[in-house]
Amino acid sequence: MQPKVYVTREVPDAGLGMVLKGTDAEVWEGELPVPREVLLEKVQDIEGLYCLLTDKIDEELLDAAPKLRVVSNYAVGYNNIDVDACTARGIMVGNTPGVLTDTTADFAFTLLMAAARRVVEAADYVREGKWKTWGPKLLLGFDVYGATLGIAGFGRIGQAMARRARGFDMRVLYYDPATSGDPDLAESVDLDTLLAESDFLSIHVPLTDETHHMFGAAELAKMKSTAVLINTARGPVVDPDALYDALNAGEIAVAALDVTDPEPLPADHKLIGLPNCIVMPHIASAGVATRNKMAVIAAENLLAGLEGNHLPHCVNPEAYATRRQA
Ligand code: NAP
Ligand code: GLV
Ligand code: GLV
Repeated sequence: MQPKVYVTREVPDAGLGMVLKGTDAEVWEGELPVPREVLLEKVQDIEGLYCLLTDKIDEELLDAAPKLRVVSNYAVGYNNIDVDACTARGIMVGNTPGVLTDTTADFAFTLLMAAARRVVEAADYVREGKWKTWGPKLLLGFDVYGATLGIAGFGRIGQAMARRARGFDMRVLYYDPATSGDPDLAESVDLDTLLAESDFLSIHVPLTDETHHMFGAAELAKMKSTAVLINTARGPVVDPDALYDALNAGEIAVAALDVTDPEPLPADHKLIGLPNCIVMPHIASAGVATRNKMAVIAAENLLAGLEGNHLPHCVNPEAYATRRQA
């Protein structure tokens, strides 16, 4: 008998097909996340869960799933999952690192450029019929080339961002106390130096207890009044009220956010109303080929775990020795 699996959204066929072939899978076909009460009911007899970053995998859910052996997240970030609680129950957790690194860095750099050169504002200006002439002072922005980029979190995506910045002749600094990156790519600095010297500050840390509101009022106050803040990591790494105040008061110049707190951000949220804030609907990894690869990796993690093997990309390898058996 094939193991029972629940898939919390329709993911690309490349990965979904593998899951449907190798397991007894049920798929939530709604466009919105599966309602919590439905998920709590569906997990009762499953051995594998293929889930998204919009699903909260906490102790309550794990307690409702006594046969669960593998949680496979269709994302590299896994702050939606209580990993310690999974480990304590012998449940393996997988994610999708690497395949989305460049696509996500491409988008972070897109936001950097768009914010610097006011692309979103300028497109609105044309669409609204305001374009009357070429102007010496029309929609002036910041030069990117030669400016200083600060990177918070010098992991896979942070380093990919640094490589892009080099092509634009930027000076690149990073803050990541536990990582020693290539000194030819970027210079390691402390957080205060990163805040004080960055013209562009791009966030690439995971969301953890330590990074929650890592960028609050005190940190934003240390930044240049001309600085641009780019967040493609996780919304709660930045304090949204402090960010609003800093943008509104001109303490920093612009923010470009692919991730927000909460998600989605309500259409009438004060940050969306600011002309110097670009808000995107969490699409940094949204390339067709990238999403196919993520779907395949998440399927490989799920199937390996159900077979009792090591997950190719495992978040809690320490759980392997005491993993739940079929
Ligand atoms: P990664 O390779 O693990 O890089 C994260 C880096 O941040 C690591 O070097 C980590 O160091 C460092 N770090 C952790 N806590 C820190 C702190 N308090 N201060 C400074 N640095 C810290 O992960 P990644 O693949 O680059 O992905 C980064 C994050 O991007 C993911 O966790 C995810 O939330 C987000 N993401 C978003 C999108 C999107 O669609 N917007 C797409 C992909 C990823 P240690 O390894 O020593 O902890
Ligand atoms: C997307 O946000 C991811 O973490 O993969
Ligand atoms: C602008 O279009 C220029 O020619 O400088």
